[in-house]
Amino acid sequence: MRFMAEEKAQGSGAATVEAPGPNTVRVTFLPANKTFEFEHGKLPYQDHGKPESILDIAMNCGLHLEHACGGNCACTTCHVVVKKGKELLNEMDDDEADRLDMAADLQLNSRLGCQTVIEKPGEVVVEIPSWNRNYVSEAATHHD
Ligand code: FES
Repeated sequence: MRFMAEEKAQGSGAATVEAPGPNTVRVTFLPANKTFEFEHGKLPYQDHGKPESILDIAMNCGLHLEHACGGNCACTTCHVVVKKGKELLNEMDDDEADRLDMAADLQLNSRLGCQTVIEKPGEVVVEIPSWNRNYVSEAATHHD
C-alpha cells in the first residue's frame, strides 16, 4: 500500500503520478485530495464495513470516515459521493438504497462507504460531504 497524497498535492512537475498497475486500486478522497493505492484483494480487513469497502480503505489509511453504526448499513454517517470509477464498484443492494434515502444531501452518485466495495482494480475518486468531514483529526490524532 502506498501513500501518495503529498506527492500528488504538490504537483512537483508534470506527470508525477504514474498510471496504476494492472492489479492496483487507487482511491482518492476529496476534498482532502488524499490518494491511496493497494493491490486488489490484498487489503488487510479493519473489521468495519465490507472488506475492501471505501470505509475499510479509509481505515487502512488512517483517514477518518465517520461510521457511527460500525459499518453495518444502519446509519448514514459514512455517506460518500462517487466522482470517478463507479463501474469498478459493487451494485447497491436494497438495504443500502433504503438507508441512503435517509441521508442528508443525497446526490446521484451517493453511496454508503461501508457498503461500497471496489470489485475491480482501477481508479476511484470519492468525495466526503462537508457535513461529514472530520478528517482534520486523521492519522496522528485519530483514535478509534
Ligand atoms: S457506517 Fe453506518 S451505514 Fe455505513
